[in-house]
Amino acid sequence: MNATINLEKHFPVLLNELVSIISPLYGGTFIDCTFGAGGYSKKILEESSNNVIAFDRDKSVKSIANELLSRNKKRFKFYNSKFSSIDQIKNKNIKGVIFDLGYSLNQISDLNRGLSFKSKGKLDMRMGLNDFSCHDVITRMSQTNLYKIFKYFSDEKYAKPISKKIVQLRENRKIETENLVEIVESIKKNKSGKNKSTKIFQALRIYVNKEISELMNGLINAYNILPIGGVIAVVTFHSIEDKIVKFFFKEYSETKNFSRYLPKSITEKKYFKLMKKKPIIPSPFEIKINPSSRSAKLRFAYKVDNGCNFKNFVNQFKYLKDIENLSFDV
Ligand SMILES: C[S@@+](CC[C@H](N)C(=O)[O-])C[C@H]1O[C@@H](n2cnc3c(N)ncnc32)[C@H](O)[C@@H]1O
Repeated sequence: MNATINLEKHFPVLLNELVSIISPLYGGTFIDCTFGAGGYSKKILEESSNNVIAFDRDKSVKSIANELLSRNKKRFKFYNSKFSSIDQIKNKNIKGVIFDLGYSLNQISDLNRGLSFKSKGKLDMRMGLNDFSCHDVITRMSQTNLYKIFKYFSDEKYAKPISKKIVQLRENRKIETENLVEIVESIKKNKSGKNKSTKIFQALRIYVNKEISELMNGLINAYNILPIGGVIAVVTFHSIEDKIVKFFFKEYSETKNFSRYLPKSITEKKYFKLMKKKPIIPSPFEIKINPSSRSAKLRFAYKVDNGCNFKNFVNQFKYLKDIENLSFDV
């Protein structure tokens, strides 16, 4: 028997694991920063003492949100906004802020959006509420900046020849999704591996959707709106996201080796309680029934104090934000 489900709809990743983390805090408001197909929100609303405030930048999920709203008028709110703006929430009884990063299967399998290298036609890649599309980047960005995006956002070994070929080819023709795939395959033709375009598409999606700034601002704002005792839980899907989340929790949950002459209150300042240093990953069974969960990692921490300024966090990843801010007009 083939255990893989043919998923028309998004299948919530690590749902049981997430519930086991947040359920001790049930009886309050949870912020679902990445509503998607609503898998997490629906599960949290099953407990009648919970409320959910959900965010998603993709307006196509509004119909799912409206349906959930019709059944939970008093307990559910949806905002078609980016999660970097969760600091607008004034609710005082927040118990947890949850991020399930990346894309839903519904988005990836909608080939008109050009998020996947299986798409045809216009290179779009916008998740929603964007300033520009991938088409703008591919037609207008300098070779040097394309190279930096490919190098820093996906560690693509062939970043240089790929960026060079894009700039050469666009002189004479429009580059659509299938052409970008051809370019990558022509350069990596002798390389093994399933999908040679994965890295280039990842890098472009990060740039087009400003995913680094969104994540960093989202995490900081999650901390700012959360009362002490609340939890932040984040599911990541690639190594850059995970590196950012890992640093965010670890940096502010460990005692620093400051000078022993400093007052104790400074040396022992902690803002998070981290129950597990290692991330939670999907079970072999979950990966079998939902292969796209295979790279998921869940990290979480409880807020234990106010007043963190996140200076080290912001400095640590400034180099990535700088790449996201590169201009694309040649
Ligand atoms: C992996 S899906 C979430 C799936 C959801 N947990 C479920 O169970 O159905 C990620 C969703 O987050 C949204 N998203 C990604 N980045 C966002 C951001 N910065 N602000 C708001 N929504 C975002 C995407 O549009 C997508 O719908």
